[in-house]
Amino acid sequence: DWTMAAYRETKVAEIRDQVGAGKVICGLSGGVDSSVAAILIHEAIGDQLTCVFVDHGLLRLNERQQVETLFRDHYNIPLVVVDAEERFMAGLAGVTDPEAKRKFIGAEFIAVFEEEANKLGGADFLAQGTLYPDVIESVSFTGGPSVTIKSHHNVGGLPDRMNMKLVEPLRELFKDEVRDLGRELGLNDQFVGRHPFPGPGLAIRIPGEVTKDRCDILRKADAVYLEEIRSAGLYDTIWQAFAVLLPVRTVGVMGDYRTYDSVCALRAVTSVDGMTADIYPFDAAFLSRCATRIINEVKGINRVVYDYTSKPPGTIEWE
Ligand code: XMP
Repeated sequence: DWTMAAYRETKVAEIRDQVGAGKVICGLSGGVDSSVAAILIHEAIGDQLTCVFVDHGLLRLNERQQVETLFRDHYNIPLVVVDAEERFMAGLAGVTDPEAKRKFIGAEFIAVFEEEANKLGGADFLAQGTLYPDVIESVSFTGGPSVTIKSHHNVGGLPDRMNMKLVEPLRELFKDEVRDLGRELGLNDQFVGRHPFPGPGLAIRIPGEVTKDRCDILRKADAVYLEEIRSAGLYDTIWQAFAVLLPVRTVGVMGDYRTYDSVCALRAVTSVDGMTADIYPFDAAFLSRCATRIINEVKGINRVVYDYTSKPPGTIEWE
């Protein structure tokens, strides 16, 4: 009789076995997978684990504080937070090509992570929240497209370069099972039910050049949109919802004044695995409430549009 409680115990024993007295380092993304992996590993080996969270300045509103509160205060897990915002913004200056953005962010992320690992005196193991679908996808690409649609962001290459072995306690699990395991480990429903968030973060939701100002504008609009989705009780029905900040300015009027500001696009999709997706059919009243609030509350945006594109032919993210 298989239960999550039993799975947790088996995995804790396996991790102890594999790691022994070794040191483990785990990169946290703020997402469910890396969080559950870290909490499970900490249960097994305690402070032999150190977590590293890279704040690249491309995170959502309050995301860094949420990670700090959860890991440091609630779970008491050793956590290093790296403030790398300036470094990422400097590297992104003038970069507008989507693949160039992704490649820079991926490479810079590995560089920052490696520097921190070295500061900690290195580690014997790198922990990752790899899931079963990730394992399959990386070996079964023969029938897939022969072109790269998007370069995905992970810490590939790092284990070899730093001579680390991998600890991947979620390799047999699907997403819904990871959520169950997270609940079993004490994470609340709101945390385990979080929408996926891409490694390159807000950079791929800001077509054109990414700057700190544009990230700040997008963070505010995104937070308003998600607050409305939560208060309408729709968050858990939707696979992913987010705002996108377009590199287009349009004319508007506010009070007696002419405005000339950016366009914000709202995206929401339903999906089972992210491979295909349908748009979420909000009612008109909901969308106009979001538009009104965003335009009133977020300086820099004066027009809001809704993205009606399914996947395919669109992708979920805009870049
Ligand atoms: P697309 O845009 O390809 O996205 O339809 C499918 C799903 O993957 C997420 N995504 C990423 N996740 N690193 C990630 O960890 C990435 O580089 C990345 N790019 C896209 C996207 O948010 C969606 O859930």
